[in-house]
Amino acid sequence: MTSLHLQHLSKHYGATQAVQDVSLSCTAASRVAIVGPSGSGKTTLLRMLAGFEHPDQGSITLDGQTLAADGRALPAHLRGIGYVAQDGALFPHLTVADNIGFGLTLKGEARNRRIAELLDMVALDQAMLQRWPHQLSGGQQQRIALARALAQQPRLMLLDEPFSALDTGLRAAMRKMVAQLLGDAGITPFWSPTIRPRPCPLPTSWR
Ligand SMILES: Nc1ncnc2c1ncn2[C@@H]1O[C@H](COP(=O)(O)OP(=O)(O)O)[C@@H](O)[C@H]1O
Ligand SMILES: [Mg+2]
Repeated sequence: MTSLHLQHLSKHYGATQAVQDVSLSCTAASRVAIVGPSGSGKTTLLRMLAGFEHPDQGSITLDGQTLAADGRALPAHLRGIGYVAQDGALFPHLTVADNIGFGLTLKGEARNRRIAELLDMVALDQAMLQRWPHQLSGGQQQRIALARALAQQPRLMLLDEPFSALDTGLRAAMRKMVAQLLGDAGITPFWSPTIRPRPCPLPTSWR
């Protein structure tokens, strides 16, 4: 059972306090959404969980294992955590197939089958496999990044505004699909959703 505990996490960059004293706990199969305005520290928080940034203070534990505390941190690749960055962050010099298969240890036909299966999971056409990242739309890149993260069978999945490049209809469908997918795979999702502010009337002086 995945259970994640953050205690008094803080992180600053120079004079900027990006994350201040965040504590929370979540249990297996729960979905946690981190909501806040731009610049409030959502990405920094996720990057500390993934192991790409180290907290100045506080601790992170997952399934009873300490990932970061007292200035020490477990390297990202040993955490068993999937991370989908806001822009997908695909490797530009690798095809879609090689991006998805990047961390797979399988070889030959078994590897190809697994890559095809992962592409299916994110509802993309097999014809995409030989394309390069620059030949994909933003939304397709995000889905390939999700497939690449799923390939690692992580115990926890971090999604940083993963569907921000999708239109409203597709975003709702993808959110449902990913929740189902991660639920079926027993992966706990922890994400910062894209919240669109409600339209509000402009002040008369701006019109
Ligand atoms: N690598 C960095 N170096 C310096 N400042 C950073 C860096 N990353 C983020 N920040 C600053 O930290 C704050 C939080 O950023 P971020 O975590 O990206 O917020 P959010 O994802 O909620 O928009 C912002 O003020 C941002 O400018
Ligand atoms: Mg962000």
